Amino acid sequence: MNRLAENPLDYSLLKHLTQAFGPSGSEEEVAEVIVEAVRPYCDEVRLDTLGNLIAIRKGSSGKRIMVASHMDEIGLMVTHIDDQGFLRFTTIGGIRIGDLPYRRVRLKNGRMGTIGMEKLEKPSDIDLSKLFIDIGADSREEAETLVGIGDTLAFVGEYTELGSRVMSKGLDDRAGCFVAIEVLKRTRSPHELAFVFSVQEEVGQRGAKVAAFALEPDLGIVLDVTRTGDTPKGLKMAVKLGGGVAIKVLDHSMVTPPKVKTWMANMAVQREIPYQWEVLENGATDAGAIQLTKGGIPAGVLSIPTRHVHTPSEIVQREDIEATLELLLALLEDPRF
Ligand code: CO
Ligand code: ZN
Repeated sequence: MNRLAENPLDYSLLKHLTQAFGPSGSEEEVAEVIVEAVRPYCDEVRLDTLGNLIAIRKGSSGKRIMVASHMDEIGLMVTHIDDQGFLRFTTIGGIRIGDLPYRRVRLKNGRMGTIGMEKLEKPSDIDLSKLFIDIGADSREEAETLVGIGDTLAFVGEYTELGSRVMSKGLDDRAGCFVAIEVLKRTRSPHELAFVFSVQEEVGQRGAKVAAFALEPDLGIVLDVTRTGDTPKGLKMAVKLGGGVAIKVLDHSMVTPPKVKTWMANMAVQREIPYQWEVLENGATDAGAIQLTKGGIPAGVLSIPTRHVHTPSEIVQREDIEATLELLLALLEDPRF
């Protein structure tokens, strides 16, 4: 039953996905990578008006399942360019200001920069107004040849393997996109599957909301990352790297319907796939938006345990990615869901 043994995952695709440029609202480069990967395996691929990439695989059961993973990542947006060519900026998505100084950032055109900081009276004085981006320009004129107001920047964080773990920027949620693509390649589901690679999750689950409204699925399954409680003096959270796929019970945007989470966990037990329960006290997912669409659509989440979420050095474990993939394959093939 282990389809991964005969057809192992191609982690070079995950690398490619993580390094694509995609702050919320600027997901086009990520969509291009995904279109290439999914086109041979689906009946239809389209972009909707918000930029969601929707890949349809037809089925015969009369039921439709929406599988959502978000393409966007956290980032920055330029608000002002000064006479010396320094950029001021605002944040896109959940970013802690204290994490920002001296981080490298990149514009879509490839130009790099670093986040500099004004001299502070005391460390606690740090806030956005004290930070600027240095892209190496010497004047406003020179800067304006490279960047404009409203341009977005992504964090720089190369893809590195750490034994069976992987460290990169953008694993939130390219790891989910990766699982979705690899499931689409392998599935034998009897149901119609609508794989939604959503936009603007990090700024309020906006892409998934309109996609769910348009698709009217019978069920939504979301693939996203979740935090862990396995680092020194970290969160009190019962999710750890290497513990298997995390089945969400609750986050800030949703409570999983009991029938959905029980179905997921029973399937994991039946197939001997390692899993753990996830209660995420802060954070939201596309499933929250799907649940509140139309008259209410049941939705659950398979989460990939991730350390250092929303930093350029997110860490996931291959075995957890593989458990997530195995469980999603099994769920999509269940004729009774
Ligand atoms: Co996120
Ligand atoms: Zn996410």
